Amino acid sequence: MKKILLSTIAILTLLFTTNISSKQDNQYIVIAWNDLGMHCSNKDFSSIAVLPPYNNLYAQVIKVGNATTMPSVITTDIKVKYEIPGNTYSVGKTNFWTYSKKLFGVTLADNIGLKGAGLSGYLNPTGNYFNIEGIPITPYSDSDLVNENPYQLGLVTVYDNNNNVLATTQPVIPVSNEITCVSSGCHTSENDIISKHGEGLSIANKPYLCGNCHATNALGTKGNGEAPIFSRAIHSSHSTVAKDCYNCHPGPKTQCFRDAMYKAKKKCTDCHGTMANIATTIRNGRRPWLDEPTCEMSGCHASQYAVNAKTLYRNSKGHGGLYCSACHGSPHAILPTVQANDNVQNNKLQGYSGTLDKCEACHGVVPEGPGPHSIAPSEVKVNKLDDISKNEILQNYPNPFTGNTQFNFNLIESGFVKLEVLDINGQYLFTGISEYLPTGSFSTNLNFNSYNNGVYICILRVNGKSYTKLISKN
Ligand code: HEC
Ligand code: HEC
Ligand code: HEC
Ligand code: HEC
Ligand code: HEC
Repeated sequence: MKKILLSTIAILTLLFTTNISSKQDNQYIVIAWNDLGMHCSNKDFSSIAVLPPYNNLYAQVIKVGNATTMPSVITTDIKVKYEIPGNTYSVGKTNFWTYSKKLFGVTLADNIGLKGAGLSGYLNPTGNYFNIEGIPITPYSDSDLVNENPYQLGLVTVYDNNNNVLATTQPVIPVSNEITCVSSGCHTSENDIISKHGEGLSIANKPYLCGNCHATNALGTKGNGEAPIFSRAIHSSHSTVAKDCYNCHPGPKTQCFRDAMYKAKKKCTDCHGTMANIATTIRNGRRPWLDEPTCEMSGCHASQYAVNAKTLYRNSKGHGGLYCSACHGSPHAILPTVQANDNVQNNKLQGYSGTLDKCEACHGVVPEGPGPHSIAPSEVKVNKLDDISKNEILQNYPNPFTGNTQFNFNLIESGFVKLEVLDINGQYLFTGISEYLPTGSFSTNLNFNSYNNGVYICILRVNGKSYTKLISKN
């Protein structure tokens, strides 16, 4: 009966309204990101080449839901354009095009990258997303050819078939030339790196692409059979001489590692191990670039936050078929980051930076039922904001309960607060609260309608401490 009524209203609405309301019913958002938090490339290719100018952009377009319709990730009847306002050419900002034939065996048109992409164009629909590989961007805007600008904002625009703009966003297209073999003071010149190889390489025959002899999965090169795998060669031979990952990775100025994990004071070696470890793990079978750390390794994050099995974070998908990166950002740029440009997209989508955690951004409304990582948005009521003596969670009320039950809790410290529910075997079920709260006394209701009768464990987590209560539904 309710359904019939609804559809009658829907028809009437259709009959009596104009384009304006149908536009409101058809809202779209686009989320775009770079596959890596940073792409580095050489600037000068006349002697040696480690990496070419090559950036990869991804986008997912979502038709926003409403009270009766779920959001949907769409790829048909739309076009997705990318450009980098203020950065429209690369020839002259690097001499890559002068040497692309000698280094990569291909003759390229000016400003066109190794896979045929230019500095603007269209993303290709693939599965439930759009992407483009090999944007040949340099870290120099048209207006400043001297100072690197590693965190430039791109512009991604979604058009319908009639060229109406449906949505736009501004992802960072990160790129750095800070490959500092020489500027770090370690090598006197790039020729020195060639000479160190002895007879196998000669300055007369330069330039050389390292990957032509040393296998690297970054470029998909198999190597010449004599030279050791690139990542193993570089990390093992430099493990006692290089002080810091930023001696080679970008870099002292670029600070490519800049994200939520950086804010949490993690170091490169916490996740990757030492340089020696990077090299020995390759000897033991680790595939460089393909076998990397995961969110759940070493128990850093619980299993409900794991990447897809045997899949890189950047290729993993979660809630609603969305890429992890769509809500969290790129590797080493997990939101929020210390670079203002990284936070532009989510500021626009939800009004604040950080993880895309506002359900309404995609659903249009607060959905019923749990969302990403089984997070069920529960409203937090503030009872008072002072006179708190300790962190605690009080026994829920009522208890035992049937459908809903209320929790009161007190916080003596502000922080990111989670209220998690586990079954009696300690298996994670859902999260009721996942947000930043000040000190104070709060209450919230959790809904157990879709769970069986039984005993459950509720854990309040704040700043690494946890407080537990047993509750029962019957
Ligand atoms: C023409 C083939 C060739 C090219 C190009 C080449 N290498 Fe090598 N490289 C080798 C071979 C073969 C070895 C191992 C034998 C040796 O030590 O000379 C080697 C060894 C090394 C080592 C020492 C590894 C160790 O474990 O001691 C490093 C570091 C290295 N290369 C870096 C580079 C870099 C950086 C580039 C690009 C600028 C490069 N190579 C380009 C062939 C090459
Ligand atoms: C001497 C220069 C140098 C230093 C110092 C260095 N790296 Fe690297 N690293 C490289 C180069 C060059 C590559 C690209 C290798 C390739 O193309 O396969 C690389 C690739 C990598 C990769 C991807 C390949 C893989 O093995 O999975 C990781 C991860 C990495 N480095 C981590 C680190 C960390 C962490 C540190 C510091 C503890 C560090 N590197 C220090 C030069 C360096
Ligand atoms: C919090 C853990 C963490 C820290 C800290 C960290 N990394 Fe990584 N790194 C990762 C993960 C995870 C990946 C794989 C990303 C993926 O699966 O898509 C990765 C991948 C890489 C790669 C391969 C290219 C890529 O982006 O996938 C390089 C190179 C690298 N890291 C270098 C570094 C350097 C240098 C530092 C310090 C400046 C660092 N990492 C700090 C977790 C970390
Ligand atoms: C639709 C958006 C969305 C998607 C897609 C998504 N997440 Fe999350 N994720 C969240 C929200 C919301 C949180 C809650 C905490 C927050 O705001 O950071 C979260 C939290 C996390 C956390 C932190 C948990 C902790 O220990 O506090 C990790 C790790 C994580 N997600 C990993 C992943 C991985 C891996 C994927 C892909 C397999 C993924 N997420 C996909 C929205 C998403
Ligand atoms: C970035 C966009 C996005 C965000 C943010 C988001 N969702 Fe979703 N959600 C989706 C998409 C897309 C689907 C898939 C709909 C479908 O399968 O037809 C979905 C599906 C759902 C469903 C249906 C069951 C399922 O899991 O497929 C529920 C319930 C839901 N979301 C709840 C939430 C809650 C709660 C939040 C906030 C904590 C949230 N979502 C945040 C995009 C999002």
